Amino acid sequence: MVLSAADKTNVKGVFAKIGGQADEYGADALERMFATYPATKTYFPHFDLGKGSAQVKGHGKKVAGALAEAVNHIDDLAGALSKLSDLHAQELRVDSVNFKLLGQCFLVAVATRNPGLLTPEVHASLDKFLCAVGTVLTAKYR
Ligand code: HEM
Repeated sequence: MVLSAADKTNVKGVFAKIGGQADEYGADALERMFATYPATKTYFPHFDLGKGSAQVKGHGKKVAGALAEAVNHIDDLAGALSKLSDLHAQELRVDSVNFKLLGQCFLVAVATRNPGLLTPEVHASLDKFLCAVGTVLTAKYR
């Protein structure tokens, strides 16, 4: 998944725009993922997944923080996400299909809150970025 210079600019633009509210986007994306793809809940048996759950909010903050960090190191995603890659691929063993689902839900979270931001080009760039993050996080299965 190669991000062009234009993709990188587009992705940075989205994160600059959502800035301090990225935590809310993370929680919104998770809430959407659990509601729309209930099988994803099986990875979180220890979480309260009810509406407005503090655990989901807290986790959304962590996911958003990791995405923001990835954007800051967009030329070295593998390095920036190395520890998280160990966690997801080797410990949690999250099936790779789920990253696509969370990515789609994150796109919807961005789109619903920012009418006009996701032009087809920006949508495609953000999708590519989220796929690239998913590829890194599932790269270390063994
Ligand atoms: C934990 C990021 C996708 C399941 C985490 C943590 C982060 C993170 C930052 C916390 C690590 C820590 O506490 O040290 C991401 C990112 C994703 C992603 C950036 C993709 C954009 C997924 C998906 C699933 C998943 C698709 C499963 C459907 C989990 C689980 C934990 C976790 C079960 C441990 C939760 C806990 O017990 O606190 N993830 N994640 N992740 N992630 Fe992900």
